[in-house]
Amino acid sequence: MLWRALHRVRETLRSRPKLALWLGLSPLPGAKDADYRKFNLSLFSRFAEQERMLADRPRMAFYHAAITQTVKPGDRVIDLGTGTGILAAFASRRGAGRVFAVDHSEILKHARRLAAHNKLENVEFISSHSRDFTTAEPVDVILHEQMGDFLFDEAMVANVIDLRDRLLKPGGLIVPAIFDFYCEPVMVRADRRVPFIWELNVHGYDYACLDRSRPQDPGYYRHNSSDLGVVDHFLGEPSPALALDLQTLREADLPREIRIRRTVVQEGTLDGLVVFFTARTGDLSLSSSPIDPGRAPHWGFRILRTESAFLSKGDVIEFTLSADEWSNPETWRWSQTQPA
Ligand SMILES: C[S@@+](CC[C@H](N)C(=O)[O-])C[C@H]1O[C@@H](n2cnc3c(N)ncnc32)[C@H](O)[C@@H]1O
Repeated sequence: MLWRALHRVRETLRSRPKLALWLGLSPLPGAKDADYRKFNLSLFSRFAEQERMLADRPRMAFYHAAITQTVKPGDRVIDLGTGTGILAAFASRRGAGRVFAVDHSEILKHARRLAAHNKLENVEFISSHSRDFTTAEPVDVILHEQMGDFLFDEAMVANVIDLRDRLLKPGGLIVPAIFDFYCEPVMVRADRRVPFIWELNVHGYDYACLDRSRPQDPGYYRHNSSDLGVVDHFLGEPSPALALDLQTLREADLPREIRIRRTVVQEGTLDGLVVFFTARTGDLSLSSSPIDPGRAPHWGFRILRTESAFLSKGDVIEFTLSADEWSNPETWRWSQTQPA
């Protein structure tokens, strides 16, 4: 009984690191992971989140075409994070021999019902976190859609690599596997710009003295948006800050720090760095870029705020972006550096 009570306390503290800290204890190992899993579980259990993804036409067209191109009749397939089972259904209809549709959220009960309703027969639904899932034989293809607005913030890299290393046949495919991560200096449209409070002067009322009270909360320094009208233009030529191939990537290969250097090609006010990604499979691509009219609209984009500064054509700007853990944007830090 004592053991069970201790276990319960341990689990509570593991899933509530803030409570652990408040009690003066350090969070238990794995606490952040447990916290994240809980958030992920509750978010994706809701119809509202699933329907936003399903109604995203460029997203669904990309996955439908990518699965049609890659899954071959008879293939054994894992759908990591199946949600409503849509990618598993595409694979099944493509002739896959067996599809393992894994999800840790309650949405799975609806996925089972949908599969019966749509007469899918070779899909096995598994209610599990992917890291606790195994199969008797390895698979030919791993399907996933684990991309967050920050690309890394849904633990895509760790989850896909774990399955790849344990359960993918040599020569097996990950769909999608190729990613470009961007972090581009941008000017925000004048009517959307929200400067830091200490940069404001509202009809002669000056806020500069608040410069000494800069908030400590990292969230304050990020602006979240899915408003396509926010970004006026990129100041430089966009180029990937990181290029990833999940077929071969090891987590340790991700750098802790990235340097972003751009020559200004279109002058304007620097308001921040906008984070977005592209995913590719063969000649198909999916984009969350704020200036791409064909972008997949359900992804928001994030602007890492910087002090405003006017930049002219030919000026060179340089930033470093570092992360203790790329999967946790709270640990991301960015600062402007002096170009050499
Ligand atoms: C972005 S949704 C994608 C859903 C579906 N594949 C689609 O394309 O519409 C991610 C899904 O993965 C599930 N998920 C996230 N991480 C997981 C993990 N490690 N193991 C199992 N399910 C996971 C979530 O519950 C959610 O349903």
